[in-house]
Amino acid sequence: MQINQTAPFNAYNQPEVTTRDDNGLTSVGPGTPGGEYLRRFWHPVAFSDELKDLPKRIKILSEDLVIFRDKSGNVGLVRPHCPHRGASLEFGIPDERGLRCCYHGWLIGCDGRILEMPAEPANSPYKDKLAHGAFPVKEYKGLVFAYMGPPEKMPPLPVYDVIENLRPGERLIPSGWTPGRKYVWPCNWVQVKENAMDPVHTFYLHTIASGTQFTPEFGIIPELDYLETPIGMVYVASRRVGDNVWVRQHDLIMPNIHLVASVNEDGKKPKRYGGPYLFHWAVPIDDTSFMEIGWLIETDEMKFDAEMIEKLHFGMMDDRPFDERQRAPGDYDAQVSQGAVHLHGREHLGTSDRGVTMFRRMLRAGIEDVRGGKDPKGLSREQSVIRTYTQNAVVPLPKAADAAQDKKQVREVGKRVAAGEFRD
Ligand code: FES
Ligand SMILES: [Fe+2]
Repeated sequence: MQINQTAPFNAYNQPEVTTRDDNGLTSVGPGTPGGEYLRRFWHPVAFSDELKDLPKRIKILSEDLVIFRDKSGNVGLVRPHCPHRGASLEFGIPDERGLRCCYHGWLIGCDGRILEMPAEPANSPYKDKLAHGAFPVKEYKGLVFAYMGPPEKMPPLPVYDVIENLRPGERLIPSGWTPGRKYVWPCNWVQVKENAMDPVHTFYLHTIASGTQFTPEFGIIPELDYLETPIGMVYVASRRVGDNVWVRQHDLIMPNIHLVASVNEDGKKPKRYGGPYLFHWAVPIDDTSFMEIGWLIETDEMKFDAEMIEKLHFGMMDDRPFDERQRAPGDYDAQVSQGAVHLHGREHLGTSDRGVTMFRRMLRAGIEDVRGGKDPKGLSREQSVIRTYTQNAVVPLPKAADAAQDKKQVREVGKRVAAGEFRD
């Protein structure tokens, strides 16, 4: 029988969708399409300064691991069970040359080689016949990055312009959404990166639904464009503010990095360039959780004092009374409530979801590239500093008398900003 999908009171004929239906887009485990794709990239897995005298157990891309710093300062990322008889290496003792298992003293180097087996005969070649599973790590600007893909495919650690070449007055702070803290959310990483390419929620959720979380000008409905970049995509949100056009442009760097420009902007004072204050990865822990980790970039405009930290933290966790979250929901409430893994069969995308569909298309293409033996978009084999595209510019432009004409010219300014005209 044909079901009439537009009939009122029709829930009986529209049962809840429960099937995961994204063809592997949201899977992160080893051997899965999404998981193999993600394993071609470096991901930050810890803050440098959290690795002190004790090893830590972590989970990344559905793999249990132990991360540690040895007494020479080197970092190791290894499988948790000692290759001798399986004691967990989170009870291991950091040594000058790696991590020593607490049970019988096997010494495992940061690269996984077995360096000592104290109870075996002194000249035994046994240790040279084994290696423990270890992944390469690199420390960069306060973060520890890991590469968990095939060794022969390992790219160099990517270095981005806005991080490598700080502008005068800028300061880098390892962070989640607030300084020094990782944020762990109980949902799949993809739905959260989709949010990064969904500027509609900025004026709806963050301004109309929950009251002005940033400046009132965020409530002005922007003209929107979505453009591909060599490393991913950007959205361009262009707003009319008095005699200015305020253009906010954000990067999504494939697969899981997003950048955000100042949330203090009101579009009232002309400016050529405003860079990102946030540069973040959503690193999957498993299919149904991820951690938000990266850097905040402090500037004169975005100082991370107590007031700003409170503002940035608002709505980013489940630490408010539930009724308060219902009255003024934040990003956490909107995105985690989509489901542990958002089911695509539930949704009905509209024209304003262009950023989401574009991101998913790129993700699918990346997964296919990896399957076909190619490097996916966003992966660079160059050692050079990678250009990013985030911009926050305010361009003086008198309002056109005709509203449609003005929309058109506002959008044109957005395109000029996107083309790099105002980025010195
Ligand atoms: S279990 Fe680790 S040394 Fe024996
Ligand atoms: Fe948001």
